[in-house]
Amino acid sequence: MSLSRVTVTAVRNLHPVTLSPSPRINILSGANGSGKTSLLEAIHLLGLARSFRSARLLPVIQYEQEACTVFGQVELAEGGQSNLGVSRDRQGEFQIRIDGQNARSAAQLAEALPLQLINPDSFRLLEGAPKIRRQFLDWGVFHVEPRFMPAWQRLQKALRQRNSWLRHGTLDAASQAAWDRELCLASDEIDGYRRSYIQALKPVFEEVLRELVELEGLTLSYYRGWDKDRELQAVLSTTLQRDQHLGHTQAGPQRADLRLRLGAHNAAEILSRGQQKLVVCALRIAQGHLVSQARRGQCIYLVDDLPSELDEQHRNALCRLLEDLNCQVFITCVDHELLRGSWRTDTPVAMFHVEHGCITQTHDHRE
Ligand SMILES: Nc1ncnc2c1ncn2[C@@H]1O[C@H](COP(=O)(O)OP(=O)(O)OP(=O)(O)O)[C@@H](O)[C@H]1O
Ligand SMILES: [Mg+2]
Repeated sequence: MSLSRVTVTAVRNLHPVTLSPSPRINILSGANGSGKTSLLEAIHLLGLARSFRSARLLPVIQYEQEACTVFGQVELAEGGQSNLGVSRDRQGEFQIRIDGQNARSAAQLAEALPLQLINPDSFRLLEGAPKIRRQFLDWGVFHVEPRFMPAWQRLQKALRQRNSWLRHGTLDAASQAAWDRELCLASDEIDGYRRSYIQALKPVFEEVLRELVELEGLTLSYYRGWDKDRELQAVLSTTLQRDQHLGHTQAGPQRADLRLRLGAHNAAEILSRGQQKLVVCALRIAQGHLVSQARRGQCIYLVDDLPSELDEQHRNALCRLLEDLNCQVFITCVDHELLRGSWRTDTPVAMFHVEHGCITQTHDHRE
């Protein structure tokens, strides 16, 4: 799967533009503030209906413009094309179109255009709150396991019921017991999907990491959100009083986490910035491999400021791994010279120069 055409209107400082990217490697270079990240943001908007830079979409809309719009033509792995469109106006009105139809949710977009983002914020996957790692994990599970989403929705519903009961106590005991059973069933199901996903991810991650950086002894493990030796029902019974006091359920898959350790240490606390970036890249590249195996179509990588924090050797190793994914990759950098020699001669590389919001193609991948 790849984007064969992208049309962007009124996103940040970008002038209206239609690009015909390479199905493989695309490099956008230009000075600070020229609009490189804004193009990645536009593609992100197309795949997820949200930005990775601001929680709200209002700042993404170009000053003095009513709405920002992104269209994309996607070449599907099984042949044929799909057309996606996302538009957001100043009043907050959102429109998502997939092949001429209004889409019901952003999840449909995520399914149609799976994206992986690697940007200077990515170290938060290691350092940040567990929620960020759960989102990473669930992105993968969502794309390889179609039964995950319905189980997740059941869990959310049962959790809402339980938390409301903990706060207000308005449900009779029998009904609450039934909701708890539902909660435990959905939790076990989700835990099962996550566990098998991590089992598959681990060896791929370890192999990718070995090719990228020498970090002997780095381990990835999964915490399911409650004691690994006890049934959730039993844990819920013992924590009931505290749950009632807090007004929410403490144990369960909503508390799951991934743990990265180097020997006895939390990896985030001892790795250098460059090493953190490489570990995050290894996680995301491993995830891309798994998703492409499962769904026959690959995901698209957005790599903002690839060279930052990396020396030449690690930069080249990262480029090689991105190239070996056989996916479409959009890379930004200030100086494209740094990435010039990083690709095999037969890999189609398209180059774009970005200046004051104007994007011009300087090298066509078909040449
Ligand atoms: N809503 C908006 N309307 C118009 N311009 C905007 C808007 N929001 C941000 N900008 C401007 O858009 C420009 C694009 O920034 P962007 O982050 O894409 O640059 P960049 O090329 O990635 O730079 P860097 O190399 O520093 O990362 C900035 O100059 C910013 O001030
Ligand atoms: Mg940038």
